[in-house]
Amino acid sequence: MRKNDGNLCGVLSCYQVLAFVTTLLAFAGYLNAQPAPQEAVEPAYANVVPVNYTSSVVTSDETARCLNCHASRQIKLVETWEHSTHARNGVGCYECHKADPGDPAAKNGHFSFSVQLPVSPLTCASCHPAQYASFASSSHAMAFETIKDLPIRTESPILFETTCAVCHGNELQMKRGRALNNTWPNHGIGRVNTDGSRGNCSACHGHHDDSLKQARSPETCGKCHRGDTGPAYEAWQASRHGNNWQITSAGIDLDKKNLVPVNERLMRPDCFVCHLAPASETATATHNPSERLSWKLAAMQSLHTENWGQKRMQMQASCRNCHASTQVDMYFRRLDASVLEFNRLASEAAVMVSSGSKALDLIKGAAIKGRIGAAMLSPLHGREAVDQLSR
Ligand code: HEC
Ligand code: HEC
Ligand code: HEC
Ligand code: HEC
Ligand code: HEC
Ligand code: HEC
Ligand code: HEC
Ligand code: HEC
Repeated sequence: MRKNDGNLCGVLSCYQVLAFVTTLLAFAGYLNAQPAPQEAVEPAYANVVPVNYTSSVVTSDETARCLNCHASRQIKLVETWEHSTHARNGVGCYECHKADPGDPAAKNGHFSFSVQLPVSPLTCASCHPAQYASFASSSHAMAFETIKDLPIRTESPILFETTCAVCHGNELQMKRGRALNNTWPNHGIGRVNTDGSRGNCSACHGHHDDSLKQARSPETCGKCHRGDTGPAYEAWQASRHGNNWQITSAGIDLDKKNLVPVNERLMRPDCFVCHLAPASETATATHNPSERLSWKLAAMQSLHTENWGQKRMQMQASCRNCHASTQVDMYFRRLDASVLEFNRLASEAAVMVSSGSKALDLIKGAAIKGRIGAAMLSPLHGREAVDQLSR
């Protein structure tokens, strides 16, 4: 909600009035300087009249100038930001969208600023270095590498951008702030950015809604982890963990900072509880889900991960908050045996079809679905996979 009843001194502090006047002066200065000799004013920018923006949010002078023009244009976007933790902490448009003028993503001469539409994880890293380091070491950050050499990228680039790249990310191509070859907008989790960094924080976090509730929601992971080849979301939903989870979690404040699941009345887990949150009262959260995985399930033949015993122990610490050790041990014993069984079914099915065929992809997809069913406790997915693999 914008506070603007026209009574400047009543609503605003003297500081804000001063900031406003400074902004006006700065704007008058900019008018004199426009148009810059070599930067023609684009049609969208002609006749732009900044409107004094007022609100209870305290911003930098630069962001105050962005808001004077952008608040009356991207109305809902700005409202979303106004309600964010970032806005309350003085992190505004300029702090996230300022650009290095030499970066191809930079739009220079934007009313004396260099700005960019894409926001690289390195921008977030300047204030959140630990989360960035953890994320950057995950296979999430490498999700574009996994698919970059597949034929679809060169054979049907547009379909690559509208399908695979939406989840996996792409290689962002920009020139003077304009996207080339349909590579933006993209919020895939392994996007290769123009500054060379990998990944995209806004794959899980909102652009302007930074609420932790959104990041911790199973639907956030589920927008990518669903469907034929990796149905983790549907499998979790069908399990005793996910079934009616929304009802059982309704009383929990999922927006809380530093939430430790074992200290909350959260009786059943969703994705972030097992894969990212602190597994015990003394453990720390992670931005790298690979740290707790003992298998690489998404493959034709699954293999153990490196140091898998240690990774499994990290996952088990969270199970033990709710279950007896015996149930946890029996679960993993069954998981191991099921993974090996799906490996066997997949290799038996694979010898029946010719190499490089579509049928081989279907076999791999079925084997992944079966193993994910076993991991996430969905008998339904296991059964479908067995159906598809056995003859
Ligand atoms: C004098 C008015 C004005 C100011 C000041 C201003 N902008 Fe803009 N900006 C615009 C207009 C107008 C557009 C394009 C039209 C639209 O999309 O609404 C635009 C577009 C943009 C774009 C998209 C560029 C593109 O390629 O389409 C970004 C990013 C942006 N502004 C960020 C900022 C940031 C960050 C600031 C503050 C540092 C800022 N702007 C300050 C008026 C302004
Ligand atoms: C915490 C960082 C952050 C802040 C603060 C922020 N943005 Fe953004 N903004 C992003 C991210 C991340 C994206 C997604 C861009 C990408 O990487 O592709 C984005 C996207 C955008 C877009 C393009 C998306 C669209 O729907 O058109 C516009 C325009 C924009 N921001 C304007 C603003 C304005 C205006 C402000 C100030 C009110 C602002 N942003 C504040 C991080 C931020
Ligand atoms: C200029 C510094 C700065 C930048 C840049 C920045 N943040 Fe933040 N961020 C903060 C501050 C300050 C807080 C509030 C910290 C606190 O409450 O302890 C915060 C909080 C958060 C939160 C927690 C919100 C909550 O409700 O508790 C998330 C998630 C987050 N930032 C993600 C991002 C992402 C993603 C980006 C990049 C698109 C980003 N930040 C860019 C400074 C920044
Ligand atoms: C924007 C899409 C997207 C979102 C959102 C997303 N993921 Fe992923 N995730 C992927 C992709 C793509 C991969 C495969 C990465 C690769 O190439 O190895 C992956 C891989 C994984 C893996 C396997 C890691 C490994 O080392 O094998 C786990 C576990 C995982 N994600 C959990 C999560 C959780 C939990 C969330 C939500 C908090 C989440 N993901 C959100 C796209 C996404
Ligand atoms: C809806 C989001 C989404 C889309 C769209 C998507 N993927 Fe994936 N993909 C994933 C996730 C999530 C994983 C990780 C699965 C896991 O670890 O359980 C993955 C894993 C993979 C893998 C590694 C596992 C394997 O099967 O070998 C490949 C290769 C892959 N995807 C290729 C593609 C290609 C090619 C496209 C486009 C035709 C595509 N993906 C589209 C989400 C997606
Ligand atoms: C796979 C989804 C996912 C991605 C990608 C992701 N985050 Fe998060 N983020 C989360 C979840 C889930 C939480 C809540 C973790 C918890 O409850 O312990 C979180 C929490 C945070 C917080 C709040 C403090 C904390 O650690 O709990 C910050 C800050 C943050 N993320 C920044 C980032 C930045 C910066 C990036 C990009 C480098 C990023 N995140 C990428 C899912 C993600
Ligand atoms: C009860 C804890 C728990 C919950 C809740 C949970 N998972 Fe898992 N997940 C596991 C375990 C255990 C494994 C297998 C671990 C191993 O490899 O040792 C796994 C495996 C995975 C994998 C397979 C990674 C690979 O090897 O390819 C993905 C992807 C995944 N989970 C995503 C999710 C998503 C998305 C959600 C929420 C919809 C979710 N998980 C909910 C415990 C959980
Ligand atoms: C936040 C608490 C919590 C966590 C963490 C948790 N579980 Fe559960 N789990 C439950 C609840 C509650 C049930 C359902 C019991 C019931 O129906 O009364 C359940 C059910 C199960 C079942 C029985 C499934 C069936 O279909 O019979 C298994 C096996 C299981 N969990 C294994 C695990 C494993 C392995 C982990 C760690 C990777 C784990 N759980 C983490 C709370 C949890």
